[in-house]
Amino acid sequence: MFEVLKPLPPDAILGINELFSRDRDSNKVDLSVGVYQDEGGLTPVPKAVRLAEQQVIQAQTTKTYVAIAGNAEFNHQMELQLFGSSHRALCDGRISTVQTPGGSGGLSVAAEIICRAQPDTKIWLSDPTWPNHKPLLSLPGLKLQQYPYYDYVNHKINFEKMVSTMKTLGSGDVVVLHGCCHNPCGADLSPDQWGILAELFGQRGITPLIDLAYQGLSEGLEEDVYGIRLMAESLPEMIVVASCSKNFGLYRERVGAISIVLKDTKQAAATLSNTSNIARGIYSMPPDHGAAIVASIFCEEELRKLWIQELGEMRERINGLRRLLVDKLSEREPPQDFSFIANERGMFSFLGISRSQVIRLREEFHVYLVESSRINVAGINRSNVDYVSDAIVGVL
Ligand SMILES: Cc1ncc(COP(=O)(O)O)c(C=O)c1O
Repeated sequence: MFEVLKPLPPDAILGINELFSRDRDSNKVDLSVGVYQDEGGLTPVPKAVRLAEQQVIQAQTTKTYVAIAGNAEFNHQMELQLFGSSHRALCDGRISTVQTPGGSGGLSVAAEIICRAQPDTKIWLSDPTWPNHKPLLSLPGLKLQQYPYYDYVNHKINFEKMVSTMKTLGSGDVVVLHGCCHNPCGADLSPDQWGILAELFGQRGITPLIDLAYQGLSEGLEEDVYGIRLMAESLPEMIVVASCSKNFGLYRERVGAISIVLKDTKQAAATLSNTSNIARGIYSMPPDHGAAIVASIFCEEELRKLWIQELGEMRERINGLRRLLVDKLSEREPPQDFSFIANERGMFSFLGISRSQVIRLREEFHVYLVESSRINVAGINRSNVDYVSDAIVGVL
């Protein structure tokens, strides 16, 4: 039966990683990876995570299953972190949360629950978006569409075009928004723009699905959920999918959650039973370890403080590198303006150079980025920033 299967081309980013690891040049720089890196090029385990992990292991007396919906404390703490303890939807008991294997698992559950509730829904993805949104949200019946988002020429959101598309949508539509740190373009909605969208979605009955994979890595833990809290305040229904991969450095432990805001408690209970039933049918039970670590960080004051401090350091490093790269590039008086990089947020930005310039960067300068010219800013450090800036200006 399997002879019909043909080999697929390698994953675009993994293919570049492979070329990078084969490159023997001592100046080589990898800006293609999708994970946070520190000054030494490592993706560290935060100290708060290490400490919590020891406690979790010491306290553990069994490895039996936790529950289909996962760790109840983790789910509760995630709700607090996303919505805030005094949020109306939370106080009313209108939010239903299930722990998922990473944000990716949460997106899969989101597609299933949308399909179960309204099988002919159109799901709108930003142009561009994280490439995995497509496979994770593709299910028979659901129709994937794109809405205009990034203006590649002016390096900002094309908000007018985005809004004019939103004005054509209605109650059969779900719009995927990036909560903060848009992947891949780094251009985030401003508070005003969130406000305009919240009003429009309310008028037209559009349901937002907010993908939050980088809370705390843009402006701060509270600031980065401004849009989520605003929409949950004014809209009767919304879906939030959160990941703890980046902000806790727990990538391989697969920690995430799906929270659905509903009209009333009855609907919240019905939805929870359905999301649990969906989870049961896909992966049966979520992994425990990472969620237990996150729950103990949230519940212990000292660990929480330490994590917030470490998260702040990651954020400051990324935002500082953005400014440093812009300064270093402008010192070299390039023929194009890169100042937009300092205004964007999260790990990613498009350099805005052509595919052939990306290839020259790789072949002549050993600087690796994906062909769209997306860079991971965290791959830059104080010792390679001059080399990277010379290389970029060198191919313009
Ligand atoms: C936009 C976006 N959503 C979701 C995810 C999912 O992350 P994970 O499944 O590792 O939690 C990522 C990871 O890169 C992402 O960039």
